Amino acid sequence: MKNPEIEKRIKDLLEKMTLEEKVGQLHQAGGSIVGAFELSFEEVLTMVQDGRMTEEEAHKMISAAELDWHEDDLRAGRIGSYLGLVGSEKMNRLQRIAVEESRLGIPLINGFDVIHGFRTIAPIPLAESCAWEPELWQRTARMSAEEATAAGVHMTFSPMVDVSKDPRWGRIAESAGEDALLNGLFGEAKVKGYQTDDLTRHDALAACVKHFAAYGAAEGGRDYNRVDMSPQRFEEEYLPSYERAVKAGARAVMPAFNDISGMPCSVNKKLLTDILRKRWGFDGMTISDANAIAECINHGIAADRRDAARQALNAGMDMDMTSGCFLDHVKELVEAGKVSMDKLDEAVSNILRLKFELGLFDDPYRSSAEQEKAAMLTPAHRALAREAAQKSMVLLKNDGLLPLKQGIRIGLAGTLASNGDEMCGTWAGAVQPGDCKSLRDGLDAEQIRYSMVTEELLPECDVFLCAVGERKAESGEASSRASLELTEADKTLLNRLKESGRPVVAIVFAGRPLCLGPAVECADAILMAWHPGAEAGPAILDLLFGRVNPSAKLTASFPEATGQCPTMYYDHIRTGRPAGKFKYTSKYLDAPVEPLFPFGFGLSYTSYQYSDIFAVQTEKGIHAEITVQNTGDVDGDEIVQCYFRDPVAQRVRPIRKLAAFEKVTLQPGESKRIAFDIPKEALGYYDQDMNFVIDDGLIEIHIGGSVRDTLQANVEYHNS
Ligand code: NOJ
Repeated sequence: MKNPEIEKRIKDLLEKMTLEEKVGQLHQAGGSIVGAFELSFEEVLTMVQDGRMTEEEAHKMISAAELDWHEDDLRAGRIGSYLGLVGSEKMNRLQRIAVEESRLGIPLINGFDVIHGFRTIAPIPLAESCAWEPELWQRTARMSAEEATAAGVHMTFSPMVDVSKDPRWGRIAESAGEDALLNGLFGEAKVKGYQTDDLTRHDALAACVKHFAAYGAAEGGRDYNRVDMSPQRFEEEYLPSYERAVKAGARAVMPAFNDISGMPCSVNKKLLTDILRKRWGFDGMTISDANAIAECINHGIAADRRDAARQALNAGMDMDMTSGCFLDHVKELVEAGKVSMDKLDEAVSNILRLKFELGLFDDPYRSSAEQEKAAMLTPAHRALAREAAQKSMVLLKNDGLLPLKQGIRIGLAGTLASNGDEMCGTWAGAVQPGDCKSLRDGLDAEQIRYSMVTEELLPECDVFLCAVGERKAESGEASSRASLELTEADKTLLNRLKESGRPVVAIVFAGRPLCLGPAVECADAILMAWHPGAEAGPAILDLLFGRVNPSAKLTASFPEATGQCPTMYYDHIRTGRPAGKFKYTSKYLDAPVEPLFPFGFGLSYTSYQYSDIFAVQTEKGIHAEITVQNTGDVDGDEIVQCYFRDPVAQRVRPIRKLAAFEKVTLQPGESKRIAFDIPKEALGYYDQDMNFVIDDGLIEIHIGGSVRDTLQANVEYHNS
């Protein structure tokens, strides 16, 4: 619901604005690097990405260089927003120019990628999603907002809710995995955590839902690549997560880089206007992805920058992230009648609305250097990062080796075991060297004795802790991989340790599912630690020594072989010839068809037993219940998953679909009855003519501790 007072202020302001000033509001500027060299930030990024410069070199260069924030343009009303400005004093200085030295005093809005923490880094989103705990997701978002706003940030380009079914895609790290419901709930929790219910609070951070839409379905798992899918699949599997995050109140949305069936999202009116605004009632701001408007020329859909600007604005794009197409061309487009003044006013209003809602007009200076310093890496934030890491790491294998006993002699192997800075994973732009603690830092802090495994030496010890996997730069944007295998060096190391005859715990650091077959062969236990953030080392030790019982469960399937991607995800569509022993069935000659570790899977130091499943139709959908008991001898948190299947439908349906879940704490011997109410809409889908239908007839309900391990109840479902 629009606030009438704000709408009036927008209207009054619009009346005073010149055409140039309106266009200025649409422009988000990045800082250009000035000094000894003339390179834009984007060029430096490209050089790092294509290998002409190492990340370290770029970091040094950027921190040594001066950034030009185009103060004259700001003064002249040609900038509405900044990308990536960090620091309260810097922000206040530039805000003062906007507010006190520009003609109309319109404040800036500053956007930054606060993806999983600002200084206190939480686990990467894919990891955190494995906690299946919306309340935790919300709390870590709140932590991010407290730190980022103290450093002058007003808006984060998060949450990303791109359903990601292909682990080759590097950006799976930023998602909540392969399921639509989980991505939606993750996004909803993040939005609430960032924004709170009062955007005028100094520590409220506007959320920007991205990448709208279906960016996770990029063909071949290759970043920036095309997306082509049926409208049914788009509606059923890809749109719902954005819808949920938008309806949670997110005040901004970022259209994706990709095209959908030939129409780039940046100029896609169906998406930006028909679905987002008309169908969902969104009245916040849309902002392009970086340079994406200009890239419509590369897509071959715009003749030039002017044409790209025209198409994007007319489709419903409000703000241009850094391409400059709007700044350079919208004035002439309006004058030539190619973009109407109403359309321009609409875009400007959407931007001004967010600035008013954040209270930037009345209260533009939100933080000070002292507040900034005090907000970062507080003990409470570190404790939360540790809790989130404990709840995110998935125990994939345990042949009875874990938990480790106190006093056990440890041999520490793998370079990632000693590298705290690698623990932050992708998108940690404000992190400083030393902020994140490695496994080795954790051992040192607890004064646990260990010896290092070196090239020549296998030290005396009772157990090897062997770190393998990916470095932070190997996942995230522009980090797609054609092979998900462990490196040769990792495989050799694991083999060498196994040959010693002593037990091995493999600790896998990665931003995506990897093919862990060699680790399964060589290690007695495997802990999927992901990129766990600031408190990596301490959290790993909490789990390894059993001070905390592992509870996380996978939200993305782990392939046996890269060639299975992306089809081994849990909710794949049924085929006419499901894989079986017979040759002419849907499978591979040289790899299994099932993933190595399925969706929903994760071990614990205790065991759970499920019984007494029951399901019945209700007025609102289906009610289901099950009893779960802790049958082991330690406390545990079990993630109870409720799936359904529609065995005979009007269109081919997924093998199973997650409908609901609950995380439950159980003492040894304790049992609880868990109930789920599945809304009837969740059972529906689109028929061949795009009518939303819910079938009469049998619906199977499957509840258990992983997609492969469930009990079944049947419901005869009747509409009416
Ligand atoms: C490109 C990425 O795709 C997007 O997720 C990010 O928010 C922007 N760059 C800004 O850094």
